[in-house]
Amino acid sequence: MEAAKVGLLGLGTVGGGTATVLLRNREQIHKRLGRSIEITHVAALGIADQTLLDANKVRLTEDAFEVVNDPEVDIVVELIGGYTLAKDLVLKAIENGKHVVTANKALIATHGPEIMRAAMKNGVNVAYEAAVAGGIPIIKAVREGLAANRIQWIAGIINGTGNFILTEMRDKGRDFAEVLKEAQALGYAEADPTFDVEGVDAAHKLTILASLAFGIELQFNKCYTEGISKITTEDVNYAGELGYRIKHLGITRITDHGIELRVHPTLIPEKRLIANVDGVMNAVLVQGDAVGPTLYYGAGAGAEPTASAVVADIIDTVRLIGIGAEYKVPLLGYAPEAMSDIPIMSIEDVETACYLRMNALDKPGVLAEVSEVFAQHNISLEAVLQKEPVEGADKVHLVLLTQKVTESNINAAIAEVESFDEIEGSVARIRLEHLD
Ligand code: HSE
Repeated sequence: MEAAKVGLLGLGTVGGGTATVLLRNREQIHKRLGRSIEITHVAALGIADQTLLDANKVRLTEDAFEVVNDPEVDIVVELIGGYTLAKDLVLKAIENGKHVVTANKALIATHGPEIMRAAMKNGVNVAYEAAVAGGIPIIKAVREGLAANRIQWIAGIINGTGNFILTEMRDKGRDFAEVLKEAQALGYAEADPTFDVEGVDAAHKLTILASLAFGIELQFNKCYTEGISKITTEDVNYAGELGYRIKHLGITRITDHGIELRVHPTLIPEKRLIANVDGVMNAVLVQGDAVGPTLYYGAGAGAEPTASAVVADIIDTVRLIGIGAEYKVPLLGYAPEAMSDIPIMSIEDVETACYLRMNALDKPGVLAEVSEVFAQHNISLEAVLQKEPVEGADKVHLVLLTQKVTESNINAAIAEVESFDEIEGSVARIRLEHLD
């Protein structure tokens, strides 16, 4: 059988990894697929060394539209990232009847509905396994492996850079900015690293997972998004003293009031497996009604781990060449006419337990006054930790753990506490999940 022809857009970290894996494992892939895959056309800027491309008779261009308009190409693999150009290229490829594989979570989370409509109209596949959790086949797991289940919730560490930073802060007391620089040098961080540290990257990925889990449209703009930039080493240590780890989690859950869709730092009990996922590794915990909890773990970023997902998508897509749309797994896992309109909940209505840290004047009665506020708001306290004052200081750190409380209620209580003269500055709040 004739080889399937791939056009590659981008030869950066993931593009380079994809070319390497496809070439290195070509025989293994042929054995699985019964057909060869050839990269025939690559679009990339400023490639100094073309030896490998020349040796494999790959055409190189700086104009990505040449690749998507190349009649020989069956599958366009978009690995340039970003929104506008990537979207134009993907839509053009689809219009030209080409299948698309992409690792671009920003593109799928924000322009997915338009891209998927175009793909359905043109009878082509859009595969995006590498868009969520790098090398972990979580899209396939949720969309196909768990198709028998009603998914109840998903909680995941889905940003490797953020997890790497939190791990280094906890284990080595390293400085936030210094660890971020290292993540950038290792090729983990996004082109704009604020996407990693402010939670945008995780929100893109969670948006996709929520659609697959609950059959809802991709609604990135409704995802509550909070990053890790305000987490201090003190919080990491106090959480540890109380038996918790701080992880940056994406959480989506179906409730009687709608669907929770939120990304934020979270305390989780240190005995949970997912609490022990460290460094750049990702993990996604999925709770299904039939299977119970399942946990998926692996490298969430990096050249070859991400390429592993991209190449798996290419292999799957080659199998679809010439097959009617009715035989494909729906792009979001649900039949288009069965998509649900369950609303995404406002964060104000979400219930979680909370970790609170405040700087309190070290004098009798302050703790009682603060506790009284929580009692008045009907918020139960689970634990209280008061740290020794640093020598010469008149303020102490007061740390409280609450039981579950709605966001609007805890916000009101925090505002009241912050108004006390005995409390300096603002109260730090980190949500807490038991994940049981
Ligand atoms: N910047 C992302 C991360 C890369 O750190 O997880 C993979 O999407």
